[in-house]
Amino acid sequence: MKIALISGSPRAERNSHQVTLFIESLLTEKSIQTQILDVIDYKNGNLSAESFSQGLKEADGIIIVSPEYNGLFPGELKTMLDTVNLYSEKPAMVAGVSTGVLGGVLAAKALQQYLVKMEAYLYPKFIISPSVESLFVDQKVVEGFYKNVVTDTVNGFVSFCQKLKD
Ligand SMILES: Cc1cc2nc3c(=O)[nH]c(=O)nc-3n(C[C@H](O)[C@H](O)[C@H](O)COP(=O)(O)O)c2cc1C
Repeated sequence: MKIALISGSPRAERNSHQVTLFIESLLTEKSIQTQILDVIDYKNGNLSAESFSQGLKEADGIIIVSPEYNGLFPGELKTMLDTVNLYSEKPAMVAGVSTGVLGGVLAAKALQQYLVKMEAYLYPKFIISPSVESLFVDQKVVEGFYKNVVTDTVNGFVSFCQKLKD
């Protein structure tokens, strides 16, 4: 099985990429192949539309990790997602990230709405990452409850992808 992780922050000093890397580490522990498709690479021309398409086509599931900017996901992420129309019947899950206490829930819900419109097979549970700066120290998760919730949610999504693949 292969899961594509879309890392959605366009900022150089971004916090949400740590969430992407944490989710990637959980998938790797389960011997699941991963590929990170990064908005910054797309923006800088280091990820072509063709490579982005190929990454999505090869994936058995997609996880989109997005920061919350003014109650939505970033415009740069929307631009990258809109480049292709490959979400139909693709299992997908979202993870919101913010420095606020609501953890990016508004960005996550907006992304869910986008994925429903694009006819993805949306996994109904989603991840939030509240006060993200306090969740990680030196790229490692230091908050036990968050770690457990994310692990359970990722495991549930992997089972969902596996059932749809079989
Ligand atoms: C333009 C902009 C708007 C933002 N709006 C929100 C917001 O609506 N709600 C929130 O909780 N955090 C907001 N934030 C803070 C982000 O949650 C914070 O930057 C967090 O680290 C996730 O984004 P990052 O991955 O780019 O770092 C905003 C940040 C920026 C740059």
